[in-house]
Amino acid sequence: MSRLTITDIKKKKEVGGKITMLTAYDYPTANVVDEAGVDMFLVGDSLGMVVLGYENTLPVTIEEMIHHGKAVVRGSKKALVVVDMPFLSYQVSKEDALRNAGRIICQTGCQAVKLEGGIEIAEVVSAMTQAGIPVMGHLGLTPQSVGQLGGFKVQGKEFTVAQKIIKDALALEDAGAFSIVLECVPRQLAALVTDKLGIPIIGIGAGVDCDGQVLVFHDVVGLFKGLRPKFVQQYIDAFSLMSEALRGYVRDVKNKSFPQEKNSYNMEGEVIERLKKEVGEYS
Ligand code: KIV
Repeated sequence: MSRLTITDIKKKKEVGGKITMLTAYDYPTANVVDEAGVDMFLVGDSLGMVVLGYENTLPVTIEEMIHHGKAVVRGSKKALVVVDMPFLSYQVSKEDALRNAGRIICQTGCQAVKLEGGIEIAEVVSAMTQAGIPVMGHLGLTPQSVGQLGGFKVQGKEFTVAQKIIKDALALEDAGAFSIVLECVPRQLAALVTDKLGIPIIGIGAGVDCDGQVLVFHDVVGLFKGLRPKFVQQYIDAFSLMSEALRGYVRDVKNKSFPQEKNSYNMEGEVIERLKKEVGEYS
């Protein structure tokens, strides 16, 4: 089966089907998420927080994104893979941005890159799409601007901020973005943007009317103990399940119930007798 393309994703909006997206950062997670049948993977720079233990996404480097992006591409067959461009890899200059996006696409084998921002990055998005690089936008709560936004909080409750988000979305669509992630905004604003734009709007904390939803894998399975916004839905408590299993391993090693005979290798009796004799002769 071949991978979904940006054309397939855009078509889903036309026919009114919901689009599913989850983050993944490594090979085994990509295996299990692909098996679950999601349409798109996001190798998000959230990996800085949920995998690398940073306080926010700002320290993540392009090398780290490429490293994790490659593993997700290797671990998946069906879903379209989008890799985040990390902080300052696309804001310094258009040339720099284009070169970095090209590196991510060529070195990981992913199908698209994602950038945070609106009108201020529209020219960069346009240069990328003209160069043949599919781009996903990201508006609303944009974690790379957490300092500027004054923390991880809902965006677009006030008229002027909401108006800017709508204008930003239109600018990204004009610049050729194939889809936009809309994070942590009132559901009514997300519904307006979804209705106004021809490209799919993928919500995270943006209500049910978006064309699709994205969540962070570690939040969905209960593996991240940090920040826990109300838009997260946890489907299993993997942390507790894994920790119980691992306590079992520690107990079994200590009380010698692991390894058992079935986990061990044996050698011929004659060889062991010869060895014992030989070792006995060592001074
Ligand atoms: O980095 C990330 O995981 C993201 C999602 C929260 C949309 O950008």
